Amino acid sequence: MNPLDHVEFRRQGHMIIDFLADYYENINNYPVRSQVNPGYLLERLPDHAPFIPESIESILNDVEKDIIPGLTHWQSPNFFAYFASSGSTASFLGEMLMNGFNVVGFNWLASPAATELEIVVMKWLSKLLQLPPAFSFSGGGGGVLLGTTCEAFICTLIAARDKMLDQIGRENNEKLVVYCSDQTHVGLMKAAKIVGIKPENVRQVMTTKSENYKLSPQRLEELIKRDVEAGLFPLYLCATIGTTSTTTVDPLGPLCEVSSKYNIWVHVDAAYAGSACICPEFRHFLDGVEGATSFSFNAHKWLLTNLACCCLWVKDKSALTKSLSTNSEYLKNKATESGEVVDFKDWQITLTRRFQALKLWMVLRSYGVTGLRQFLKNHVKMAKDLERLVTMDSRFEIVAPRYFSVVCFRVSPYAIHQHHGNQHEVNEFNSKLLEAINATGHVYMTQSVVDGVYFIRFSIGATLTEDRHVKMAWELVQDQATSMLGTLAPKKASNGKHMKQIEDHFM
Ligand SMILES: Cc1ncc(COP(=O)(O)O)c(C=O)c1O
Repeated sequence: MNPLDHVEFRRQGHMIIDFLADYYENINNYPVRSQVNPGYLLERLPDHAPFIPESIESILNDVEKDIIPGLTHWQSPNFFAYFASSGSTASFLGEMLMNGFNVVGFNWLASPAATELEIVVMKWLSKLLQLPPAFSFSGGGGGVLLGTTCEAFICTLIAARDKMLDQIGRENNEKLVVYCSDQTHVGLMKAAKIVGIKPENVRQVMTTKSENYKLSPQRLEELIKRDVEAGLFPLYLCATIGTTSTTTVDPLGPLCEVSSKYNIWVHVDAAYAGSACICPEFRHFLDGVEGATSFSFNAHKWLLTNLACCCLWVKDKSALTKSLSTNSEYLKNKATESGEVVDFKDWQITLTRRFQALKLWMVLRSYGVTGLRQFLKNHVKMAKDLERLVTMDSRFEIVAPRYFSVVCFRVSPYAIHQHHGNQHEVNEFNSKLLEAINATGHVYMTQSVVDGVYFIRFSIGATLTEDRHVKMAWELVQDQATSMLGTLAPKKASNGKHMKQIEDHFM
């Protein structure tokens, strides 16, 4: 049988769609966080590939029996861990089209539609985010679809590095300095390492609770001055809109102002929260982005786009292409030589690239700007409601302000000890509480630590989540806390009062 026989393709394709439709229909029946033990699949599956072909029926049977138990169900409405990966039918179908066509659009000629649709989609998104004209293709910049934010870090760091070394000489590579905060995503450290920045030249500006864990422009400038005096070269700053732990927002305007004095490349990482900024009421979080050099966000986190899809814009496309261009006889063509086309292979690490624009195009067209904004606003409203519920229960405290759809909370030291207690014990209590919550299989939440304080991140962003799921999850948190707090637990009547308050709240 030909592996691309169209009759079998149709038959098996329908089977997979039916299988996945059933999966979504029954997703609530699975424990949200996988309950298997390490090595479970290695024990179940044979240790060699089959010698003779197997049927799709038999393979799907094993997916059901062996693979699904080892899945953590990120599309479950009760998934509140990390940052969600919000999938959608439109995006799934866009991926299907992309996979079906299976073209490799490394340059314009290799599939003109892939390149031009990417330009169109990046233009649409840039308008929705109200990015300044300097980030557009006509303004000397432009946007590209990568896989992940870590790739955006690497590409922009390389571009910044080479631009700087062209000015100061290659021999100064060891003197380049990268700045971020102690809340910046760890991917930046890895990217700096890959790009050849000395680990001791990555400065993590310390953040504080009193400043809501934002990167302080004053503290940044102090570090920069010290480095300049020491004969080092400030290279790159990563500012974050929506940090991973608490979703705080760094002050872009003042940070860009400081950086421009020292000719520093400013990258804005809005991996999670960038999507929200297509809503007019949240756009102010990007104020100051006009002073940045590059900007990226992950459509696969919160814009109904299936994995993986990072949108990166730069102001100076030539900085990227100078560093990342490849050329070889077999890639040469008239379109490239004319200079009239974009060859996206020169904007990324790899040569091969997927036709990702199709899925974003499908998402933008299928849900429209109003649909996307409504989706985002609903999640923020759910988080706001949840935040209010947390504050209504005096046993809990909010650990950091809520900006978007993540609520950071813990059982307060006072509820545990009737006094301010030992931080270690309070952390232990909250860690055990989270484990108890997740062990039920009904929900999945994850934790973080800031300033030595362990807390639970209730992160709303899954496509199927509705008010009732948030309400159920919060009741579960309360119930688990009640049983763990033992004698300190509210009496039945007051617990009933909690429930009544919650019901009124979500009416
Ligand atoms: C703020 C922030 N930046 C970067 C990343 C890394 O993103 P990616 O996995 O796409 O590289 C994350 C991941 O959650 C994030 O929250």
